[in-house]
Amino acid sequence: MKIIVQFSDNETVLLNATPEETLFDAAKRQGLRWPIDCAEGVCGSCKCQIISGTVDHGFYTDEALTQEEITAGYALGCQTRAKSDLIVSLRMPLARLRRAAPPMLSAHIVRLDTVAKDTVHLVLQLNQPIEFLPGQYAKLKVPGSNDWRAYSFTNIPNHDQVGMLIRLLPSGQMSDYLRRAQVGEVLELTGPHGIFFMRDYSSPAVMIAGGTGLGPMLSMLQTLAADDRASAMQSARLLYGVNDAAEIACLDILEAVKKKLPGFSWTISVANASAQYRQGFATDLLDDFTAADVASTTFYLCGPPPMIDAGRAKLKNLGVSEEKIIYEKFIASQ
Ligand SMILES: Cc1cc2nc3c(=O)[nH]c(=O)nc-3n(C[C@H](O)[C@H](O)[C@H](O)COP(=O)(O)OP(=O)(O)OC[C@H]3O[C@@H](n4cnc5c(N)ncnc54)[C@H](O)[C@@H]3O)c2cc1C
Ligand code: FES
Repeated sequence: MKIIVQFSDNETVLLNATPEETLFDAAKRQGLRWPIDCAEGVCGSCKCQIISGTVDHGFYTDEALTQEEITAGYALGCQTRAKSDLIVSLRMPLARLRRAAPPMLSAHIVRLDTVAKDTVHLVLQLNQPIEFLPGQYAKLKVPGSNDWRAYSFTNIPNHDQVGMLIRLLPSGQMSDYLRRAQVGEVLELTGPHGIFFMRDYSSPAVMIAGGTGLGPMLSMLQTLAADDRASAMQSARLLYGVNDAAEIACLDILEAVKKKLPGFSWTISVANASAQYRQGFATDLLDDFTAADVASTTFYLCGPPPMIDAGRAKLKNLGVSEEKIIYEKFIASQ
């Protein structure tokens, strides 16, 4: 079967695939690094859109691929097999997919600060600078195991220090390690990974963050604040939701961004009752938006899967098209 893959930079690649191969397998065999994470149909990182042709979707969870997305033509590259010739669209520039696999790096902890309830900001010194797009993430190896965990970068790219905003879960492997970790300890990481990154510097952006889903937004916002192109951006708005007011983190970084980016504003919602903040979920803040507000706006959503699903449903009701909704689900480790 012939598979034409179209990319966001208007490039096209022709692949051939056997009936047994997934789209990812066929791409890999022919030197194309299809974006992938779990390889098991549960994370959605490998999603593409089938423009024409028929496929077998294979295994997938609702978290990774909803029925609505299937109806709209979406499929998971790591699971999908072609049943006919296909035209497939990947919302990534081809240039990125021709690069070598992300390197394995060594890092040591230079800071591990508690910045809110059950939330730490981990800062790592790398053995070499890492090039990433604001919004992408690294995988950290849990010390003493062969397990890896994904954490989004919070800082501006291309530094030899990287930050991560991490929620400490009860009895989580990495969470338990971080509760006892000390400055100077060495960690292994790979990166960058992921397709959640700032797409457009000129049109308005609305970022919806749940809990530590704020992390990648901090990277995007600080990058915007340091970028001349951001002056063309009409506005950047952050809708930030937490369960409890004590979980609100990194307001100092938001204040610093605001000083450099006058069009930036943020609103906080707290699920539990709070005297100071609006009660509800981050996605409830979308109830204030009208169809006129969302025209030409790109939406970035990051956080727990139910928040992303609720946000996408609301945006769809407001008439926002799928291409304008960029999201990443913080799915628990597989
Ligand atoms: C793309 C991506 C980016 C991410 N970025 C971030 C980020 O920037 N910040 C962030 O905080 N998180 C992020 N995450 C989530 C992160 O990768 C981890 O999943 C999270 O930190 C939990 O890891 P852990 O090792 O502490 O817990 P795990 O060991 O994975 O356990 C998770 C929870 O499940 C429970 N559990 C484990 N095993 C069982 C069992 N057998 N039965 C019942 N319960 C069980 C644990 O008690 C714990 O509460 C991201 C996830 C993805 C997919
Ligand atoms: S890489 Fe395909 S669903 Fe995770």
